[in-house]
Amino acid sequence: MIKNILIATFLVSASIVTPAIAADDDPESRAISSEGDVAKGKRVFNRCKACHNLTAAPRTRIGPNLDNIFGRTAGTSETFKRYSKALKGASFVWTEEKLDQWLLAPRTFLPGNKMAFAGLKKAEQRRDLIAYLRTATIADAE
Ligand code: HEC
Repeated sequence: MIKNILIATFLVSASIVTPAIAADDDPESRAISSEGDVAKGKRVFNRCKACHNLTAAPRTRIGPNLDNIFGRTAGTSETFKRYSKALKGASFVWTEEKLDQWLLAPRTFLPGNKMAFAGLKKAEQRRDLIAYLRTATIADAE
């Protein structure tokens, strides 16, 4: 009986504490990627790679390069010249939480953007992809 109460207390406090740690605007937050499977995320990235490089290559594909994406202000990759007004005018910084919302439903997250991608409905796929992006985005092309 006491044990059950202790477990219940633990569960309640854990669920109160967790969202507070996952600050939406903290690029250092790894609350999503820490639970992800990098190998599975690499496979999910196959759906992005026709349009995105992960390095700061001088050339882009259809979309902006995703080098150093965590902590980067949205719409500011120097090598990408074709941003929509929506993304160019956005002033937020990419965090795991922002990326998670964008990847769930790009059109709803930022109306008027021109990324032709419907979204990843499964939370595990977004989580795994974000874990892969944490390991694979590269700051500078040598
Ligand atoms: C058909 C091509 C295409 C696919 C597929 C695609 N994207 Fe994009 N993505 C774009 C374009 C184009 C933009 C720029 C949109 C704009 O300017 O409104 C963009 C923008 C982005 C941005 C914002 C970058 C910045 O500089 O602010 C992120 C992050 C992103 N995509 C991640 C992804 C991920 C992760 C996937 C795979 C799940 C993906 N995209 C799939 C074309 C694509």
